[in-house]
Amino acid sequence: PSLSKTNEEISELLDTSDEWIFSRTGIGSRHFCEEGLTKLAARAGSKALSDADCSALEIDYLLCATFSNEYATPSLACLVQQELGATCPSLDLNAACSGFIYGLEIAAALLASGRAKRILLIAAEAMNHLVDWTKRDISVLFGDGAGAVVLEKGDDLLALRTSAAGKAAPLYAKNPQGNCPYLTQDADDCYMHMDGKEIYKFAVNAMVQDILQVLAIAKADPADVDYVLPHQANMRILEAAAKRLPISQEKFLNNMLSKGNTSAASIPILLDEACSAGTIKTGQLLVMSAFGAGLTTGACVIKWSKKTKNTEN
Ligand code: ACO
Repeated sequence: PSLSKTNEEISELLDTSDEWIFSRTGIGSRHFCEEGLTKLAARAGSKALSDADCSALEIDYLLCATFSNEYATPSLACLVQQELGATCPSLDLNAACSGFIYGLEIAAALLASGRAKRILLIAAEAMNHLVDWTKRDISVLFGDGAGAVVLEKGDDLLALRTSAAGKAAPLYAKNPQGNCPYLTQDADDCYMHMDGKEIYKFAVNAMVQDILQVLAIAKADPADVDYVLPHQANMRILEAAAKRLPISQEKFLNNMLSKGNTSAASIPILLDEACSAGTIKTGQLLVMSAFGAGLTTGACVIKWSKKTKNTEN
């Protein structure tokens, strides 16, 4: 989205500072979605379709990774399907910040089984309404964003693993509780809650374990990794994980300085930026790694070989 606010601008509203936010997180600004999540997600989907040189009608499955859809129902995927003029089955999946990797796993299974030939996977989040903007602790960390990919069957997903260890307490946001007159509701409890220190420890361990595991499954040497695209939660988490891995820190791409934490959308946004800048090239070995509420994690190894309908590479 075009609307962006710096740490300094947020400091005019909340008792915080650029120094506090940047030194703890690496975040400098974040974006806010004025157009609504459906239009933002559809815009990402439409750009991916045009980049893949295919039309919405040529997509035979539409997946949206999100947990911030404006509607409890219909799904974001159905709302986006209508915007794009697609006609295929459309489904949301919620694995919090690991949603893009979970989406790749579901897409890979649909492609492998022959149930789908071309899938549009969109990860999109409007985090602005899930955080309490009267409080400084969590609101400053997140931003809105969307990223999308068009997926076809191939040999380039070398390894993928996902995990879930059901545990709500360290990171959760409840849905509005309703107003049933026979039940007691906790009206204050509809925003995100986070135990920052616990999430920090979980995230560093998860990234290190997952990355080593997917590289082992792919039989890939860590030295051969060209780039790591990690979930963009926090620069200190990336630095701590990089220090524990046999992959140099320069290979860990990041954009949280300008985007903040866009949850499930962070990896595909980073992927698009790195491709558009020419950083990522055909044949390179990429690792993606995410962690989030659930607690969920996901990581994968991909040999990058972006194709369009009319080209081999
Ligand atoms: N501005 C200024 N001061 C603040 C702010 C703020 N925005 N937020 C909290 N503080 C204050 C607190 O009130 C506290 O003050 P006190 O000591 O007077 O009580 C002090 O700063 C320290 O608070 P902590 O919560 O202990 O701060 P910490 O150093 O742990 O940093 C942070 C918080 C950045 C969230 C850290 O715990 C962290 O990096 N956690 C990782 C979790 C994360 O990044 N999550 C991202 C979202 S989850 C996901 O993507 C899966």
